[in-house]
Amino acid sequence: MSAARRPAILGGTPLFAEPYHLVKPALPPREEFAGRLRELYRSRILTNQGAQVRALEERLSEFIGVKHCALFCNATVALMVLLRALDLEGEVILPSFTFAATAQAALWARLRPRFVDIDPGSLMLDPGRVAAAVGRRTAAILGVNLFGSCCDHDRLRAVADRHGLPLLYDSAQAFGTRYRGRMAGALGDAEVFSFHATKLFHTGEGGAIVTGDPGLYARVCRMRNFGFAAYLDCVDLGLNGKMPELSALLGLSLLRDLPRRIAQGRRVCREYRRRLGAVPGLSLPEPRREVSGNHSYFPVLVDPAGFGLSNLELNLALLHERIVTRCYFYPPVHRTGYFRGLSRRSGGLPETDRAARRVLCLPVRSDMRLEELERIVEAIVRCRVHAPAVRARAAGRLPAEWEALGERAADPYDELILGHER
Ligand SMILES: Cc1ncc(COP(=O)(O)O)c(C=O)c1O
Repeated sequence: MSAARRPAILGGTPLFAEPYHLVKPALPPREEFAGRLRELYRSRILTNQGAQVRALEERLSEFIGVKHCALFCNATVALMVLLRALDLEGEVILPSFTFAATAQAALWARLRPRFVDIDPGSLMLDPGRVAAAVGRRTAAILGVNLFGSCCDHDRLRAVADRHGLPLLYDSAQAFGTRYRGRMAGALGDAEVFSFHATKLFHTGEGGAIVTGDPGLYARVCRMRNFGFAAYLDCVDLGLNGKMPELSALLGLSLLRDLPRRIAQGRRVCREYRRRLGAVPGLSLPEPRREVSGNHSYFPVLVDPAGFGLSNLELNLALLHERIVTRCYFYPPVHRTGYFRGLSRRSGGLPETDRAARRVLCLPVRSDMRLEELERIVEAIVRCRVHAPAVRARAAGRLPAEWEALGERAADPYDELILGHER
């Protein structure tokens, strides 16, 4: 059986000849996109809320079932603008187990991040801990809908309503996800999506704020356009957060393919689940019954005691096989150099730390063949069989320990896939 063969990190032949990346960004059929481009060549309108941006905003509002959609250049700027537009002061409750942008946006909006621990089952904000963390200075709750899934929305909503707080979501990873039949985007008082190229649905770079609140919508539209009301007349704080027409055009071309991509992702996740469910030392976060995910991520939790390797060690060993996986989110935001000093009040986050030390996201690609998935599974099993030797080989080659992360976090990806060292 091939699992007995030596892993590439120990000198065996890599299972892939070329790097097998986590995702393969979608592109529309060339002919169709060329047809749409003709319109841009005709109008020469390339930005400033042209016809393509307006059309995509309309399509997305309809698709999500929300009144208003304002497109942005990316989700980070959209989050910054949203938090600032609400005129919040004090603290915002959010998880540390997220991409740094969530917490960075809070700082840009002059809010203090109050990191609250996650529920170990869902890996998202724990509503019980959120309730306990609400205090005098709490201004909002910002949940993060991770890995194409959703927070425990009903319980978070109950906490938010009890305290009269806005409930916001960073839904950067959750476009197309449903919670009790409602789309992500139609759950919070306002939500933000990312349409970065690596997302299931994308516009190259891009993002959106969606909300049912017409006043908030009008304000974020002004703020993304320098705070202008009329031509060159600033009536509000603003920046340039506009999405270019070319990006919107890409989005309009890709939206139609979304159901197929979700269905393909569902098949990939089902096959992973079938093959990895019984591997000792691996656990697979269970999708909640009320959630129908977008299936664009497949996180596994690697228990070093049962598997013989940590998530970082397995990530390194798989990179030698030319399989790109990612430890999202190691390190958690509160452990990074910049945030360490800011988050002292948040206390311990044991579940966040535990998840960060275990999580590994496997490739989910819409062009993925069963045979490729089987090779990835084979690589994982192979690493487990040879765990002690793999661990010994990985020693000293992993990102610096947490304490030193502020200084440098070497990423073996650079060396093994990009072919250079920092
Ligand atoms: C949870 C989360 N929030 C925010 C962002 C930032 O999105 P963008 O790259 O569009 O600014 C990302 C990007 O991956 C994300 O995963």
